[in-house]
Amino acid sequence: MLVEAKRAAPLDQKSLFETEQEFIAPGVQTIALLSELAIDHGRGSTLVDVNGRAYLDLNAGVSVASLGHAHPRYVRALTEQLEAVSVGSFTSRPRAELVKLIADLAPGDLTRTQFFSGGAEAVEAAIRLARSYTKRTDIIGFTGGFHGKTAGVLPISEIDWKTSVGPLPTGQHVAVYPDVTTFDGTAEECAHASLKSLRAVIEEECRGRPAAIIIEPIQGTAGNIVPPDGFLAAVRQMAAEYGALLIADEMITGFGRTGKMFGCDHDGVVPDIMTVGKGMGGGFPVSAVISTDEIMSAKPFSLPSASSSSYGGNPLAAAAALTTIRTIVEENLAAHAASIGKLLRDGLNAIAQRHGTIANIRGRGLLVGFDLVTDANSEQLLAKSDCVQFFKDCLARGLIMMCYTPRVRIHPPLILRADEAQHALTVIDEVLAQTSGC
Ligand SMILES: Cc1ncc(COP(=O)(O)O)c(C=O)c1O
Repeated sequence: MLVEAKRAAPLDQKSLFETEQEFIAPGVQTIALLSELAIDHGRGSTLVDVNGRAYLDLNAGVSVASLGHAHPRYVRALTEQLEAVSVGSFTSRPRAELVKLIADLAPGDLTRTQFFSGGAEAVEAAIRLARSYTKRTDIIGFTGGFHGKTAGVLPISEIDWKTSVGPLPTGQHVAVYPDVTTFDGTAEECAHASLKSLRAVIEEECRGRPAAIIIEPIQGTAGNIVPPDGFLAAVRQMAAEYGALLIADEMITGFGRTGKMFGCDHDGVVPDIMTVGKGMGGGFPVSAVISTDEIMSAKPFSLPSASSSSYGGNPLAAAAALTTIRTIVEENLAAHAASIGKLLRDGLNAIAQRHGTIANIRGRGLLVGFDLVTDANSEQLLAKSDCVQFFKDCLARGLIMMCYTPRVRIHPPLILRADEAQHALTVIDEVLAQTSGC
């Protein structure tokens, strides 16, 4: 009886959301809490709620749904794999093809891949690998960085509550990321100041012996912040100078998102280790650490069962990643992301000319950011409550976008069409025109 009652879930969006809220733990993503959406299905870059209302999705599950929703090729591949086999660590056809494909696409001689299920898990594994190889301990991240919420990455993730769940692991340090949009000076001076800070952390906090420097080629969670040209290359050089490995956390920037296959490619940088996830699996929880033969052979990381996990690279995960990456390559989605991203940035720049309440339009490919500001002259960031209103106004017009804080983040499916991008710009323009104080 009880089971029957629970099954008869109400279909109305509001009651479905409220029913779930009674039982789901607090702490769900802000975008889900603020929107109160209950999604019925998605197609392409469109999500449809249980009331039948359609939304253009510029969020894509925070850069996860690279092929959009229910891509026919993806659905077919996963269905076929489910009917074959989905669990286990034995060699499977999709995994064997996947590791070869990743080796072909990854820069330099990064030809070895190990799979995991989530981003933080992969970053923690990359840290374990760096320590296994260098026999050193210290890891350096950057201000504004985000690498997940597990203990092993909290010290290098900018999260305001992290000290409340301590003690946090030691041996992790933070240098200053070059955010040109907040720096008082030129891009060159900004990069220089960051490199100076990095060197000071290496010398003073790591006794000149860091195991690794970990960096996001574009900082996603901080607001899609693009470092000055040449900065990644300079960090690469400094890592080599001190015998540290460079870990590029390409969780968001990987696999076509920025208009090239990897974020590091924009600076011609080959990291020692790359962490990938999110868009690589098109929605299936799969992440990975990619490195060289030599580094991946380091013990204890390489010992039998030492780098493995329950779900990492299982046949279903492998089929999801294989299909997603193949589609990105075969449908030329990196180049598509570059051109639609430019359309979005050009449109946002034109809007900024008209309204002056958006500023610092930035990004690469379909990783786009801008700031909501009080006025063009001061460029002071808008109060959070006003941003939430902006988010709700966009949502009311059928646009889903991470714009409930002033540092707006846009990362739609890589298949976003030009007419859809244009529609998003029209909505943003209309909302800014209507909203006083925005
Ligand atoms: C660059 C980066 N690394 C790691 C993570 C953590 O990924 P997950 O949430 O899957 O643990 C994220 C998540 O947003 C990320 O943006």
